[in-house]
Amino acid sequence: MSSRISPDKVDQVRQASDIAEVVSGYLSLKQRGKNYFGLCPFHPEKTPSFSVNPEMQIFHCFGCGAGGNVFTFVMMMEKITFPEAVRMLAQAAGIVLPEDEQNLSDVREKEALFVANKIAHDFFSDNLLHSPEAKAARSYLLSRGIDQQMMQTYAIGYAPDRWDGLIRYAAEKQLGEEVLLRAGLVIQNESGRIYDRFRNRITFAVHGISGQLVAFGARRMNDDDNSPKYINSPETDIYQKRFTLYGLFWAREAIRRNKRAIFVEGYTDVLSLAKIGLQEVVATSGTSLTQEHARLIRRYTPQVVLLYDADSAGAQAALRGADILLENGLDVLICTLPLGSDPDDFARREGLKGIETLFQSARPLMDHKIDQLNSEGQMRSAAQRAEATRLLLDSVSKVNDRLQQSYLLRELASKLQVEESVLWSELKKSTRRTHRATESEAEAPSENTFFYTKRGSAELGVLETILLFPQLTPHIMTVLSHADFKNREIARIFRQIETDLLHQSEYDPQSYVASVEDPVIARHLSARVDNKPELKVAKKFALDCIITLYLVKIREEIDRLRLEMRRQKSDESDLHPYLHRIRELEEQKTVVESRKGLDETSFFE
Ligand code: UTP
Ligand code: MN
Repeated sequence: MSSRISPDKVDQVRQASDIAEVVSGYLSLKQRGKNYFGLCPFHPEKTPSFSVNPEMQIFHCFGCGAGGNVFTFVMMMEKITFPEAVRMLAQAAGIVLPEDEQNLSDVREKEALFVANKIAHDFFSDNLLHSPEAKAARSYLLSRGIDQQMMQTYAIGYAPDRWDGLIRYAAEKQLGEEVLLRAGLVIQNESGRIYDRFRNRITFAVHGISGQLVAFGARRMNDDDNSPKYINSPETDIYQKRFTLYGLFWAREAIRRNKRAIFVEGYTDVLSLAKIGLQEVVATSGTSLTQEHARLIRRYTPQVVLLYDADSAGAQAALRGADILLENGLDVLICTLPLGSDPDDFARREGLKGIETLFQSARPLMDHKIDQLNSEGQMRSAAQRAEATRLLLDSVSKVNDRLQQSYLLRELASKLQVEESVLWSELKKSTRRTHRATESEAEAPSENTFFYTKRGSAELGVLETILLFPQLTPHIMTVLSHADFKNREIARIFRQIETDLLHQSEYDPQSYVASVEDPVIARHLSARVDNKPELKVAKKFALDCIITLYLVKIREEIDRLRLEMRRQKSDESDLHPYLHRIRELEEQKTVVESRKGLDETSFFE
């Protein structure tokens, strides 16, 4: 996952990914002059202050200061790492990365499964829409409010009542039984005979997040036959239930736009809510909610509404799932349907208005849990209340985000009328009990604070200069080399430019701006591109940064020597070389400091 992608490949992906095009995939942009403008996806706003500069291949928001290149944009939007962003854009551009090349046969094998599902869907869909065999299926769906338009939009089909319907159709398309078997579309019995898995059933296609067909769920036609209501594709190389949310491919834009995802239990729930105009709905496909589902949905929205039947099985499942969502930093609301109805019935009976009214009664997860404990009579005595409180704290203890945890605790304290401090100490015990597995996969330390130090801002200043004013670079390189930089990415870029200048007289600063990995650096650069200083000011600033960098280096060296000296603890004569060197450095420092007032034009001559 985190293996490094070579700079050449990154560059190839950068060249193939136009920032305006990529950003337009997420929000609508309008051209004004050379730039494009839109509503910033990183802060709430009513008038567009988010701009995309296609020439420099960067974006920048004048409202909240967010900014960066095409990679950092995707990182921020999808909440993924740099290599993941490169991989995503590579895939969109059809560029094969070396690690995929190694697994090319693997890729081809998976490709074959996608193709098999596509062919199967063509078959099911064509049947449903046109075949006389599917007459009953069509009228069944129509009776449930699913019209022809929806059958097409939501990839619904009909698997005919034959043992080899799909097998024959696939053979016509040169698709063999081996692939059908691997795709889980057919079954092989003990005597080796192969037959269609889905027969006489309505099929619901399950998509991956980029719209590939990964599986099917198939519903029986008669509720009085005693086979299972749904038969689903088994897990395959391209289908893992714990990573898959039914409907996400259709819902993701609406989820992002409406800043919430509604979770329901079934295929038909997703469809009937979509039909009344609620697009941001997904269902786990035939499993309970997983950590992977939570992480997946968190890329799109901070808020999840669980819309489940009031019956106890559904409610129990919902509550277990809710804890997983909470742990992963999502705001969870619970919305309970009237007894005996599922989202599908309710939507058909009450329409969008009814659902929206119901949503107004949705309760935050913790409130819901308290209500539930209360109504079950589990909060009467002091002992009961204590036990119930521990139960609630267990959920809070698993929340990864400390800040969120402390807000939850404060709310809980006021609702249960307990001292916050008492809850804190109980929480600590409970945390010890749960033994957090998440601790080890803590995120990489952020370098953000580095850029607030003198050294950090000076390094960034030098980088900014060589990327915005390449004509000054040769001068800077007479006094600095890549080894002078502590930030690894700045050092890397500096070194690359040193090499460029060794072989040719110019380099392409735009390509460096466009492929910076660190979001903090990328954001800083894009803000400066949009607010480029005059050359004279830039020269003064650059010289200032260079001098600062020198002074910091001298100071760091002196500190290091002093520390070593203290560790020596031997007699004074041994310390002599240290003292001598320190004195030299102090003198050097005075000389450098005296250059602060120097006229920058003489340096950049
Ligand atoms: P439901 O029984 O609530 O079905 O199961 P439904 O989706 O509401 O379907 P209708 O309205 O009766 O036609 C909820 C979900 O559980 C899974 C399916 O994903 C289903 O959508 N399920 C259910 C199965 O996988 N197999 C089953 O036999 C039943
Ligand atoms: Mn239903």
